Amino acid sequence: MTKNKINILIIGQGGREHALAFKIAQSDKVNKIYCAPGNAGIAEIAECVNINTNNIEALSDFAMQKNIQLTVAGPEDPLALGIVNAFEKKGLKIFGPSKKAAQIEASKTFAKKIMTKANIPTPKSETFTDINKANQYIKKQKTPIVIKADGLAAGKGVAICDTAQKALNAAKAMLIKNQFGKSGKKILIEEYAEGNEASFIAFCDGTNILPLPASKDHKPAFDNNKGPNTGGMGAYSPVSYINGSLYKKIAKTIMLPVVQAMKKSGAAYKGFLYAGLIVNDNNVKVLEFNCRMGDPEAQALFIRLKSDIVPIMQACIEGKLQKFTLDIHKKASVCVIMASSGYPNKPVEKGAQITGLDKITPSDNLFIFHSGTQKKNNNIATNGGRVLGITALGNNIENASEKAYKTIENIHWKEAFYRKDIGKNLA
Ligand code: GLY
Repeated sequence: MTKNKINILIIGQGGREHALAFKIAQSDKVNKIYCAPGNAGIAEIAECVNINTNNIEALSDFAMQKNIQLTVAGPEDPLALGIVNAFEKKGLKIFGPSKKAAQIEASKTFAKKIMTKANIPTPKSETFTDINKANQYIKKQKTPIVIKADGLAAGKGVAICDTAQKALNAAKAMLIKNQFGKSGKKILIEEYAEGNEASFIAFCDGTNILPLPASKDHKPAFDNNKGPNTGGMGAYSPVSYINGSLYKKIAKTIMLPVVQAMKKSGAAYKGFLYAGLIVNDNNVKVLEFNCRMGDPEAQALFIRLKSDIVPIMQACIEGKLQKFTLDIHKKASVCVIMASSGYPNKPVEKGAQITGLDKITPSDNLFIFHSGTQKKNNNIATNGGRVLGITALGNNIENASEKAYKTIENIHWKEAFYRKDIGKNLA
C-alpha cells in the first residue's frame, strides 16, 4: 500500500454510493476503494465485492481482511441494524450513526420525541397501533392528513390523504394488511404542512455539525408531482427559498439542537444527518430525519463539493469536525433520474441493454451516476427501478437542467422513463 494512503470500503449499490465513490476517488488520501456490492458504474472506480449490505458479519470480516481504514455505510438498513457498533467492536473505523442514533430514521416516534426535547418545530402527530383508535382520531382531524409507517419503508411509507376515507385505507394497509411488514405495525397520523420541501444534510461528529448546501428532491414519480412516491426522481442544489440567513437559522435552531439532544440522550450522532424540511417563507418545520445521505441528493451535492471528503469523514469519527469548512462550487447542480417503467410499484424489467453511454464524455460539469445497473456481455444493462442519475453543473439551475436533459437525449433502453420537469419552471 502507498504510504499514508488508506483503503476505503463503501457499502451500498445505488446512485448515492456511486456519488460517494466518485467523491472519495478524488481524494489523494486513498489507496484503494472497495464497494459491497456496488453496481456497473461504481465498478469503474472501485473493486466491487458481492456481499449483501445487511450481512454485517461478512462485511466486517472483509474489512479486517483487506485492511480497510475507513468504511462508509450508504443505506439506512445496515445502520439501523447496528453496523457501526459491530465494526467498532472489532476496532474498525466506520462513518455513520450507531444503532441507537440511527433510530432517528428507523423510528418516527423516536424522532418526534427528540424533536420535542430539542424544541424543533414539526407538524403535530399521534402514534397508533390500533386501527379503531386510529380511525376515531382521523375522523376528528382536518384533511389532507398524513399517514406514516413508524419504521423503515424505503422512502415509501408516507401517504398524503385528501379524504378521511383514504387516510383510513392507508392506516388499514399498514396496520392490518402488512403493507410495510413490521415497519407499519405502528403508525403516525400527522397534520399536513403546506410549503416547499427541501433537504438539509450535515456532517456530524457527535457534537459539531458541518452543513452541506440545501438541496431539493422530487419524490413523486411523474411530472408536476403526480403519481406514487419514489425514492426520488431528481434533485437540485442550491434551493432559492433557503437564502443565507435562513440557511444559518436552520443550522443553528434545528440541526445543532438535535445533535445536542441526541448526545444528551446517550445517542451521540455521527455521520450524515438529513432533515426533510417544509419551508414557508421564513418558517421551517421538520417532516422527518434520515440517518444517512439522500439519494439523489448525493449526486446533486457531491458534484458541487470541492473539499476532500475523506478527512472530513475521519474527523466525524474522531469528534474533530470543528476545524473544517466546506468549499462548495458556486455553480448549481441538477440530477435527473432515469428509471425503468413500473418503478416504484411494479416489478421492473432487469437486464435491458442501455445504449448511448459511450457518446457522453464525463467532465467536472457532467457525470452519469449509476443506480440499478449491471455489466452484461460487456454492455451496461438495467438492474433495478432507478437506473441512472444524469447530473450536470450550470451557471444556474435552469442551465444545469438544460444540460442534463440534453445529455438524456443520447441514452436509451426499452421502457426507460424520467420526469421532464426537474429544475424547470422554478418559482
Ligand atoms: N431522496 C430521499 C431520500 O434519500 O430519502
